[in-house]
Amino acid sequence: MADTTKMDKLVALSKRRGFFYPGSDLYGGLANTYDYGPMGTELLRNIKNLWWEYFVTKRADMVGLDAGIISHHKIWEASGHVAGFADAMVDCKNCKTRMRADHLIEDALHQPVEGLSNEKLDELITSNKIKCPVCGKSDWTKVRKFNLLFPVQRGIVEGEGGAGYLRGETAQGIFVNFQNIINSTRVKLPFGVGQLGKSFRNEITPGNAVFRTIEFEQGEIEYFFDPNKSDWEELFENWKQAMYTFVTEKLGINKDNLRWRPHTDEERSFYSKRTEDLEYQFPFGFKELWGLAYRTNYDLAAHEKGANKELKIVDPQSGEKILPHVIEPAVGINRLLLMIMNDAYFEEENRTVLRLDPRLSPIKAAVFPLLANKPELIELAQSVFENLQDTIEGKIAWDDRGNIGKRYLSQDEVGTPYCITIDFQSLEDHTVTVRDRDTAKQERIAIDQLPKYIKEKIR
Ligand code: GAP
Repeated sequence: MADTTKMDKLVALSKRRGFFYPGSDLYGGLANTYDYGPMGTELLRNIKNLWWEYFVTKRADMVGLDAGIISHHKIWEASGHVAGFADAMVDCKNCKTRMRADHLIEDALHQPVEGLSNEKLDELITSNKIKCPVCGKSDWTKVRKFNLLFPVQRGIVEGEGGAGYLRGETAQGIFVNFQNIINSTRVKLPFGVGQLGKSFRNEITPGNAVFRTIEFEQGEIEYFFDPNKSDWEELFENWKQAMYTFVTEKLGINKDNLRWRPHTDEERSFYSKRTEDLEYQFPFGFKELWGLAYRTNYDLAAHEKGANKELKIVDPQSGEKILPHVIEPAVGINRLLLMIMNDAYFEEENRTVLRLDPRLSPIKAAVFPLLANKPELIELAQSVFENLQDTIEGKIAWDDRGNIGKRYLSQDEVGTPYCITIDFQSLEDHTVTVRDRDTAKQERIAIDQLPKYIKEKIR
């Protein structure tokens, strides 16, 4: 059952402590958009840096790409998104609420409806007299498809200039640059291209904060291979392992909250031979976190046809021309952020604490002079702060407001692993207290040992 209380608490913490805010908040908000505050921005950067390092920098078989967000309409026509990238929607005739038909039926009947036709969805809604969750009436329009792509109009006079789209996924940028990458690098099959960046989908979302928004960030990989030389099932398993290791070991997520769900034949795209989702148990149930699909050579073939250009490459041994196949691991970075916050959120007797892996923590350490009105304490604390800023990778915070207990609680809520207090003893023996977020225990450490001590703890 959905744990709405936990979700409400996460949303409240996010707003209170600067992880994410409703988008366009000052003007009353814009549905399904969010802005990331100082803490959320650092957390997102840390997630993306870990993703990039793990999947691109540290792998000899991977390269990176940063394609444009605005892209030619022909890309999206060839890929099939203009014709088929749509959600089936219904409108309540009484209160005008618009909903995704699959969400409406799944919530009411607790049965999956992936792959069903509009007619079948209509039949399920009518025969089960499914009520509108907003007004309680059962008076729906017929199911209609709404395309998810955001068109972009260029030119000063309306209708002038070529139309494009905000990309609906980062993946297409990789396919349309396949030839450029082959021609400009020394890659050879099998190899992958990784990309991090924003995607846009004009979808109606059922809340759940940043889980599903109209603007979001994806981390996608297209792993190209020759199906005659590589065993796709083995590659698929390798990618499953890599995704799982990243989530459990790099992001520190509890394995009990994770599961794999293979797609049924009905829901799998016609060109995909196998698709599995890594699902995470959010407060509103197990939901897709990360998709893994064997897309065959559907996309490259579609762009060969759409652009009327050959994308085949020559096998250096046989001299044969081949159009590589791909395995695609695709994740939402904002979904990773929500998962990380949910997994790390703990309420204890007198504090709320985010037990984030230190590599993810927005702030790595906070420095407190015991009293704000003692110049000798401030001076020493300032030198400790500056030294940490110079030596530690990541953000160091300074706080001299309120009592020390409140400063600790404030850092616990944003997941800062270590708080350093400069007190009167520090003036005499050049030691400071270091308080551990998770145990709340304090140790005295010599100031000249501090950078080494913190560095070892947060790596
Ligand atoms: N290229 C394949 C692709 O885009 P997808 O399942 O539509 O596949 C991949 O998206 C991942 O992107 C999802 O698993 C999810 O984590 C994330 N995602 C998709 N739509 C999203 C949205 N509206 N808001 C936030 N994240 C989203």
